Amino acid sequence: MFDARYSIRSHVAGALRSSDVGETVTLAGWVHRRRDHGGLIFIDIRDRSGLVQAVFDPDASGAAFVTAERVRPEWVVKLTGTVRPRPEGTVNPNLATGEVEVIITEAEVLNQSETPPFEIDSAIDTDETLRLKYRYIDMRRPEVMESFLLRDRVTQRFRKSLEHRGFLEIETPILGRSTPEGARDFIVPSRMSPGEFYALPQSPQLFKQLLMVGGVERYYQVARCFRDEDLRADRQPEFTQIDIEMSFITQEDILGMMEEVMREVMHEANVDLQVPLRRLTYAEAMSRFGSDRPDLRFGVELVDVSGVFAASEFKVFAGALGSGGVIKGINARGAGDWSRGKIDTLNQVALDAGAKGLAWVAFPTEGDVRSPIAKFFTEAEMAGLRDAMGVEPGDLLLMIADATDIANEVLGTLRLKMADELDVPRPGFEALWVVDFPMFKWDAEEKRWSANHHPFTRPFDEHVDLLESNPGAALSYSYDLVLNGLEIGGGTLRIHDEAIQRRALAAIGIGGDEADAQFGFLLEALSLGAPPHGGIALGLDRLIMLLAGKHSIRDVIAFPKTSSGSCPLTGAPGSVSARQLREVHLRTD
Ligand code: AMO
Ligand code: AMP
Repeated sequence: MFDARYSIRSHVAGALRSSDVGETVTLAGWVHRRRDHGGLIFIDIRDRSGLVQAVFDPDASGAAFVTAERVRPEWVVKLTGTVRPRPEGTVNPNLATGEVEVIITEAEVLNQSETPPFEIDSAIDTDETLRLKYRYIDMRRPEVMESFLLRDRVTQRFRKSLEHRGFLEIETPILGRSTPEGARDFIVPSRMSPGEFYALPQSPQLFKQLLMVGGVERYYQVARCFRDEDLRADRQPEFTQIDIEMSFITQEDILGMMEEVMREVMHEANVDLQVPLRRLTYAEAMSRFGSDRPDLRFGVELVDVSGVFAASEFKVFAGALGSGGVIKGINARGAGDWSRGKIDTLNQVALDAGAKGLAWVAFPTEGDVRSPIAKFFTEAEMAGLRDAMGVEPGDLLLMIADATDIANEVLGTLRLKMADELDVPRPGFEALWVVDFPMFKWDAEEKRWSANHHPFTRPFDEHVDLLESNPGAALSYSYDLVLNGLEIGGGTLRIHDEAIQRRALAAIGIGGDEADAQFGFLLEALSLGAPPHGGIALGLDRLIMLLAGKHSIRDVIAFPKTSSGSCPLTGAPGSVSARQLREVHLRTD
């Protein structure tokens, strides 16, 4: 709410309505647009709340009219006048203030502006780097300002919802030691300890666990996290988590509470989240959708047709099955009439995603089949395939024969690609939990197991012994929150037993001494009365991006970095003086 007591204005522009007719108001803001109608001058005055039409009349406005003649777009002005109804026929139904205008009696220029580098109205067509260089102009666009307002509402709602449930907001250090969330650290040289470095936190993970050992029981933080990784539309080098940790809980407690909190939060964006949310295990999500963050706004699922081709003479299929793999496919409805050339582009998509090739069968019209490989199929196989995939005219079947993991992943990529290509409607919001992730994934390059979430994740009680005997089969108490195909949050129960924590570290090659050197402080804390605990972190930027209907988190961050990690506005990263380098004991040559 606008409080006129602490302002040079009496009202904000965007809030004026018919009920204000007759009021004398003082507004302050920017000249959005100026139209000289020979005789009358109209100025749309804009502030954070919106805009309203100000009218200058040579008789009624006096000296203010002369001021109106010289103002230019983006000048900062203070206007006083009387609200009146717009004349018949000039009401603007597209504008919240469109029923009224303000006839101005006093005008003061508070500041002038050079011609802005781009027009506020046309900024959307402006190159993004230029918009970021002048982000303070860009954010004058109502669309950007709306994202900020939404972000504020959602953040405040998180705070209220969590506070209401007994969570304490506690800050944790930014200058710390490396926390292994799987990305590269940003490091900061220490002046006072020559040759040593702080790492910026990839998340507050270890500190929030230590808060649990300390008896905080319920913690949250609107936490800035730093990860030096390749950037994408949904990744920034610094981003914000709503970071949460709780003691004395089960996984059900966390999921149940988070569903309530998310329901309250999404309500701020007028989204009605239906709870309880759907749940898929990781294994099921991969098998049915080829993704651990499936977009459930459309139905296409992966179908296993290995059985149909059990006796296939097609060497690609027989080979895959012979080495323990599968043949799986998706039905891309509506692509049956695609040209060979167009289908070949999918082949490249499949190869890039890790496949050895792409098998396809098109059914352009009733009775018509096109495929480079159908000639290897028996009639029974063709019938079985049609049946398994529910084939109708207009369908295109895309199939991958490979190890199960690869087939799933490639088809998951193709599933999304085809939804994009075919403009499959994806309205609304579809959220789900993906649960029961494996503890570890195999790092083929390093030839060792690495943590799937992070190394503090608790294995299923009945899988603890798999840590040594079969790490790949060990599942964990873990859960990702997925919204419209994007991971917007993730968490786990934590190991609170020192011995099990040592075994989990050993499984990823961090044994005895190294464990003590890297995580001695955590291991010690676990030995000093650590309660059972667990938590979650929500990616605030991604959540706001989805709620605001944007395609990049840059749109919902006040001063984001470009995809090369730089800030066009300030020029960061930049060089520092030789003296600064000497002080922190660094040389750049
Ligand atoms: P995780 O690494 O899954 O978990 O991060 C949690 C959420 O943060 C968001 N996120 C990002 N958003 C923007 N840019 C990035 N570079 C980026 N990286 C991650 C995602 C993700 O789901 N400490 C654990 C949480 C826990 O176990 O409690 C953690 O950080 O939406
Ligand atoms: P080839 O006999 O190797 O020329 O392959 C015949 C067809 O099968 C080509 O269209 C390939 O793209 C396709 N193909 C090859 N390997 C695979 C695979 N692993 N899964 C699905 N299709 C494949």
